[in-house]
Order: sequence, then structure tokens, then C-alpha cells
Amino acid sequence: MIEIAVKAGHAHKQRDDAVVLPLLEGRKLTESGKALQDASGKMLPSFFRKFDLTGKFGACRTLYDVEGTFTQRVMLVGAGDEKKITLQKLRALSVTVARKLNRSGARDVSVYLTELSVKGASFTDKVQAVAEGVWLGLYSFEKYKTKKEENKRELRSLTIMVSSRKDLELAQAVVDKARAIASGTNFARDLANEPGNVCTPEFLGEQASGLSHGQLQVTVMDKEAIEKAGFSALLAVNQGSAKEPRFIVLDYKGGREKDAPVALVGKGLTFDAGGISIKPAAQMDEMKYDMCGSAAVLGIFKSATEMDLPVNLMGVIPATENMLGADAYKPGDVITSYKGITIEVQNTDAEGRIILADALAYAAEQNPAEIIDFATLTGACVIALGGQATGLMGTDEKLKKALKLSGDFTHDRVWELPMYEEYQEQIKSEIADIRNVGGREAGTITAACFLSRFVGDTPWAHLDIAGTAWNMSGTDISAKGGTGAGVRLIIDYLSKREQ
Ligand code: BES
Ligand code: MN
Ligand code: ZN
Repeated sequence: MIEIAVKAGHAHKQRDDAVVLPLLEGRKLTESGKALQDASGKMLPSFFRKFDLTGKFGACRTLYDVEGTFTQRVMLVGAGDEKKITLQKLRALSVTVARKLNRSGARDVSVYLTELSVKGASFTDKVQAVAEGVWLGLYSFEKYKTKKEENKRELRSLTIMVSSRKDLELAQAVVDKARAIASGTNFARDLANEPGNVCTPEFLGEQASGLSHGQLQVTVMDKEAIEKAGFSALLAVNQGSAKEPRFIVLDYKGGREKDAPVALVGKGLTFDAGGISIKPAAQMDEMKYDMCGSAAVLGIFKSATEMDLPVNLMGVIPATENMLGADAYKPGDVITSYKGITIEVQNTDAEGRIILADALAYAAEQNPAEIIDFATLTGACVIALGGQATGLMGTDEKLKKALKLSGDFTHDRVWELPMYEEYQEQIKSEIADIRNVGGREAGTITAACFLSRFVGDTPWAHLDIAGTAWNMSGTDISAKGGTGAGVRLIIDYLSKREQ
């Protein structure tokens, strides 16, 4: 990740390779833009006319050697309607600017984006949005490209300009926080983007261990330990795979000794072929992303350690493939889970809930303050909400409400689906306690109903990230591939949670 600094000072006095100024609709400049315009002998208005620059959102134009300035380039970026600017738009603008500059040959640049006023947002919110936008926007996954794209002069540093020297300390602290958040999010994206032959359960275990740190202890259980512990539902799903499963437990102590941790549980299905109830071939490659729940959890732990988040956290990740080997579990099988609840398998492709059953039961046993789970659990959720919101379900109103607020603030959004009692009927089994599918109707909710049987009385929220965890066309702030959904959401939630 490039360096981001904060500084106060006039735009026309900066000696960086580029100075970035927002231009609002109606060819309106912000304060620094106006000062630069004055210093340049009012050159800008004629440029605006010449290049037909109106301030349209996202439209950029670079002017070279502007009179009265010390920089090589003045980049004007359209910010659109002043009244319609949101934090997400500010993030998106930062992404646009960062990507353009990264290809421009400029190495060190200053940006004046936080001068834009955003309704309901504080100064620090804006600094955070710009910093996150830059770091998230410059992310790319090129590990497996043997011929790197020709770009010898990549962006090296970006300075977020603030209007007053007395804001510098505050701004610096926010940039540091944003760095930790972006680092965790990009880590989750890296894990997601790794192909299934590399990102195996063993690999996930190694990646988790790699996060170990003074306050963070990581335990990775191998197959033998999993058998001893009795995580039989995880083992059932693993039966068809040639690769050993892992059960990963993370323990982060950032809070007070006596505080119960927040438990974060993530589905770590490193490749979901569907098992004997095999998936169709089209887009089956995308099922390497079926471990994005675990990527979110690991990303959150990475951010938490890097920012010294003052909370206690417990992470639980069941990791396996879902394959079709000779010993694979079959439709009709009955599994006795770790908690003792028996599960009739009607479709081996509904495997996520099965491995989460053991992970949730284990988490609940440790008496956490609350449990939040992350899973690419149902195709039905993709149909219901698409890529715009994560499906939210759960038992605790206060927790769900706080998650909605954090979702809106971070734009890592969630939308609640109801968990009425009646839905539980759909997972009744003739032969066992429950079955692993509830029919076509309300598929996302019945999957959550299944999970609810394993959390006991612990306050619980379930996040179905099937639609949000990856995006094959890219979003306004994310490149194609893994998005890191859930990381920014939960870090915001945990930062604002009362201890
Ligand atoms: N990992 C899938 C869910 C999924 C599908 C996520 C498409 C993202 C995109 C999950 O294991 C699964 O296969 N679920 C089934 C459940 C069904 C058999 C009840 C599904 O949604 O089709
Ligand atoms: Mn599946
Ligand atoms: Zn799956």
C-alpha cells in the first residue's frame, strides 16, 4: 500500500507532481481551488470552457504547468452536485483519482478532496473515506501474472490536504486507523482471490497463524485434533475431499480481562463443487470464493491487531472443501453434529450450514458476549439482494440495529430478512432433528433458521455475504474479484460498540 500523509497548505504552493482539486457542478471550485485560481491569474475558467469541464461527477482533466503554481499538474475532478455528495461518493472519487494518478507518471501528489462538504459527516469521516478509497482503489491481484503491466512510475505517496494545521493530529490518527482497515480488507481480498488449488484449508490455517501477534493467539486444529474434539459435521462435509480439514481458533485480547469476547465465525469452504449433489459447470470456478466468510474474519483480526482495537475477539473458522470423492457424504445421510443435534443431509450442496453448525456450537460454548457469523451461504441471497447488500438475520435486535448503522456508514451495507418462527417448520426432518434444506422458498432465511439451532441463547447475527463477497465486474470502490465484504462493516461496529 502506498504512503498516505496529511498536511495543511495552499494548493498553488505545493511542489508535488500533482495537485488534485474537486470541481463541483456549475464549475464551482472549493476554497483551495479558488485560491489557486486567483494565483494563476484566473486561468482556470478559460480551461473549464475550453475542455468543457462542468464538474460532472467522476470526470477528470489534468492541466499542465498552470501559471502561478509550483506543481507539474493540476488535476480537476468532477464532484457533481454539491448537495448530493455522500461519504461513498467521496470514497469513489478517491478511487478514481488514485487510479488515474497511478497511471499518470506522477509519484507524489496532494489532494484537496476533504474540502467537499458531506452532509452528516465529520471532518474525520471525510479523511477516513479518502484514505480508504485510495488504498482500496489501488488494490489489484496480480500474483499470477508472469508479465506485469508496464508501469514504471507508480504512485508513491499521496498527501491528504486539510484546511487547518490544528486538524493535523486528528487527521493523522484517522489515516492510521484507515490504514489498518484497508490492510485487513485487502488481506481478505487476497485470500478470496487465491485459487482453490493454493487456498486450501491448510493454507487458511497458515494464513491465520501468520497473524499471530502479542495480543493475538492462533490455534489451528488438524484432522486428528478435529476428530478428537468431535467436530463431526465438519468431518462429514470433508469426507469427499482429498485435502484435510482445519478448525481455526483465534483469540485476540485487546479489551479488559473480564470482558466476554465478540465471537466471529466464518465459513471457510475453500472450494464448493457441491459434493454428490454436484453443481452445474457454469461459473463453478467462482466457488473458490466460498471461503469469503473466513477471509472476512481473518481480515477483521488483521485490522484489529494493526489498530490495537480495544475489544476482545474470538474467531472460529471451519475449513474444508466440498468434493465428490469415493467416501463423500451423500444425500440421505444423517450426521450427529458436535452439539448432538442430528442432521439429515438432503442436499450435499447445502454444506456451509453443516460446517457452521459445529463452529457456532463451539463458539457458543465459550460464552462470548455475542456471535456474528459470515458466510457465502445461499444462492437465494444473491437473487434477493444482488451485490448491493449483505443479508442480515439474527436473534438480537440491538446487535442488528448497530450493524445496520455501521453498514450505512461504511457502505458495506446490510439488509435484514425476517426470521419468523414459522420458517423453522421448513427444516423439519422425518428421520432426524433437522434437515439441511428447507425447500426453494425463502432459502436464505431457512439457512439462517438452521444455523439458529446451534447458537443457543447467545445474541447472534448472521451475515449472508454470498452476493457481496465478490464482484466479477468490479464496483465503484473495488476491483474485480474479492471485495472484502464484512471487514469495514465489523471494524466500524466494533469501534463504536460500548465496552
Ligand atoms: N456456496 C453456496 C452458496 C452460493 C451460491 C454462494 C452461489 C454464492 C453464489 C452454498 O454452499 C450452496 O451451494 N447453497 C445452495 C443451498 C441449496 C442446495 C439449499 C444454494 O444456494 O443453491
Ligand atoms: Mn454448496
Ligand atoms: Zn458453499
